[in-house]
Amino acid sequence: MTRNVIIDCDTGMDDAVALLLALRSPELNVLGITCVNGNVGLDHVVNNTLRVVEHSGKDVPVFAGHSTTLMHAGEEDAAAVHGKDGLGNLPFPAPKKTVEKEHAVDFIVRTIMEAKEPIDWITLGPMTNSAMAIRREPRIVDNVRMLTMMAGGVNAGNTSVMSEFNVYFDPEAARIVFDSRIPKTMVPLDPLWAGGILTEENLQTIKSAADRNSWCGMASQIFAKTLATMLELGRIRDDERRYVSPPDLLAVAVAIDNSIVELKDYQVFIETAGEYTRGMTVVDRRRFTHLGVDKDRQKVAVALAADQQKYSKLVLDTWLNS
Ligand code: BDR
Ligand code: CA
Repeated sequence: MTRNVIIDCDTGMDDAVALLLALRSPELNVLGITCVNGNVGLDHVVNNTLRVVEHSGKDVPVFAGHSTTLMHAGEEDAAAVHGKDGLGNLPFPAPKKTVEKEHAVDFIVRTIMEAKEPIDWITLGPMTNSAMAIRREPRIVDNVRMLTMMAGGVNAGNTSVMSEFNVYFDPEAARIVFDSRIPKTMVPLDPLWAGGILTEENLQTIKSAADRNSWCGMASQIFAKTLATMLELGRIRDDERRYVSPPDLLAVAVAIDNSIVELKDYQVFIETAGEYTRGMTVVDRRRFTHLGVDKDRQKVAVALAADQQKYSKLVLDTWLNS
């Protein structure tokens, strides 16, 4: 059965391919895409998202949301990784499509409140819009089937030792979301280091459909750029493997079919005050959490490892056969 979904993102390179997967998936009906400041500033994010939607061959509304974080504005963006424009400065034409007038948070609240059945929600960026939506209308938490988030790291971070970019960028927002009762699946960095990759062979298959399908064309160009970066980084570690592991792509794949990853339920807390650990997802892996003070806190399904074969099959089948 097709599931209705809202996607919140800060469209950089991996958000872009993740959106292309969601938009082409027969399992998902994307009701709208909401944009948030993160990888790059909000204007770039909106522009990139519109370009991605056009390449997807689908017509889905795009909404602009928050351009600053909840409290500590001024965190460094991720332009060093995603390029100044957030899409690797690749020559994708300017969009013809325009952004909606409604604010992203209004769209999220309205859509969830009006939904006849609980809907799905995916976040691929900092959680500023999502936190604001929960604060604005706390009843939305009862009408979400599953919130799937690319967020956090169990064993390590990327932006700082223990903090992953999306949480690090706006920890107060992440805390509001993680403290809420919404059913949650967290796709952290860990499965990207354990099966959550696309091999060079997978990328060649996608490239072979580039002339036929505009979404494969866009994805191929993005992957080629990402592969070059991965090779450069790999050289530092004497790692010559040719692969990409876009975090947001895996998160959308998990939202489509969570059997592609190994999931374990944990209580997860967001650190907002630590000198070295601000933005850390504190995953309680003690054996006896039932003794903890927060013993009734809802657990989060955390993805720990991915099945590479199943993951790449899902992506390839979706893009080649849709
Ligand atoms: C996350 O941070 C961003 O740079 C990516 O788009 C992804 O959502 C990975 O840490
Ligand atoms: Ca992102």
